[in-house]
Amino acid sequence: MVKKPIILAIESSCDETSAAIIVNGKIANNIVATQSVHENYGGVVPELASRAHEKHIVPIVDEAIKNAGITLQDLDAIAFTQGPGLLGALLVGASFAKSLSFALGIPLIGINHMQAHILAHFLEEPHPKFPFLCLTVSGGHTQIVKVDSPLDMEVIGQTLDDAVGEAFDKSAKLMGFPYPGGPLIDSYAEKGDVNKFIFSDASIEGLNFSFSGIKTAFMYFLRDKIAENANFIEENKADICASLQHSLVRMLLQKLKKASDQTKIREIAIAGGVSANNGLRKGLSVVAEKKKWNIYIPKLEYCTDNAAMIAMNAHFKFLENKFCDLKTTPQPRMVI
Ligand code: KG4
Ligand code: ZN
Repeated sequence: MVKKPIILAIESSCDETSAAIIVNGKIANNIVATQSVHENYGGVVPELASRAHEKHIVPIVDEAIKNAGITLQDLDAIAFTQGPGLLGALLVGASFAKSLSFALGIPLIGINHMQAHILAHFLEEPHPKFPFLCLTVSGGHTQIVKVDSPLDMEVIGQTLDDAVGEAFDKSAKLMGFPYPGGPLIDSYAEKGDVNKFIFSDASIEGLNFSFSGIKTAFMYFLRDKIAENANFIEENKADICASLQHSLVRMLLQKLKKASDQTKIREIAIAGGVSANNGLRKGLSVVAEKKKWNIYIPKLEYCTDNAAMIAMNAHFKFLENKFCDLKTTPQPRMVI
C-alpha cells in the first residue's frame, strides 16, 4: 500500500467549484472559484451552476496541481463529492473525476459532502477528540452529528423543514439583500441591538429543528412594519439583523446543549457555511464557558464549501481502502 497518498479532490455540489491536493493528510493546495452568476436571482440556479462548473473545473484542477508542485502522474487517487447536492452540479465533478481516474488508472473515492464538512476539523490542530458532537449548519442542512471515528458518524438531530442557512438567506432576500444574504445579515448584525425585536420560534421536541415558523413570523413582521413606515428596513437594518440572528443562533444552541446533556459529550464542533457566523461563534463560546465544553470552530475558509475538506475525508477513506468504481453515480440526497 502507498504510505503517503497524494490525492486530488474535487468539490462541485452547489455553487463553488473547488480542487485540492492532499499529501499524506496535509493540504498542499486548495483552490475555490465562487460563482457570482447567482447573485441576481436570489438563490442558486441549478442550470447556471452546472455550466459554471463546466467552465471552471479544468483551470481549477490545473491550478491546484501546478501550485502543489506535482504532476498528474504523482497522484494516487481522485476524490469527488458524490452527494448531497444539485444533480447537474455533482455530475460535472463526478464525470471529470471518473474520466481522470480511468485515464490515469488510479482509484476513485466518492465523498459525502456533509461528512466532509465535519472532517474539515482534521485539516488543523487541535482537532476534536472522539467521540464528539458536530453541529453542521449550511444552506441545505442543519444537523447534530455524533462522531465516533472519522468514518463512523450518526445524525442524532436535524431540521424537519428549512435549513438554518436557508432561513438566513430567505430572510435576507425579504430585506432586499442579494444572494447569499447570510453573511450580510451577519455583518449588519454587528452594530445592532439583539433585543430590539422579538421573533417567536416554534419549539420542536427532541433534538430536531424547525425554521419554517420563524421565517414566516419574520415575513409578517416586515409586512406589518413596512405598512406603518415604508423606510422601516432602511432605518432599522442593524437591529433587525441582530435580533433575527440572535433568535436563529439561540435555536441552534438550545438543541446543541440538549444533545450534549443527553450524550454527556463535551467535545463540541461546528461546521458548514453558517459556522462562519459571528453570532454563532460568540454564542458558542459563551455556552462553552458555562458548560465546560471544549469547542472547535473551523477557520473561515474551511466553513463554506471547499475541496480541502473533501480531500481530508478522502485521505481517511484511502487509508481504509474505501474506493468506488466507475459505475458510481452522484446521489443528490445522500445521507450520512
Ligand atoms: O456549506 P455552504 O458553503 O454550502 C452548502 O453546503 O449549503 O453553506 C452556505 C450557507 C449559505 O446559506 C450562506 O448564507 C451561509 O452558509 N453563510 C452564512 C455566513 N456565511 C455563510 N450565514 C450566516 N452568517 C455567515 N457569516
Ligand atoms: Zn456545504
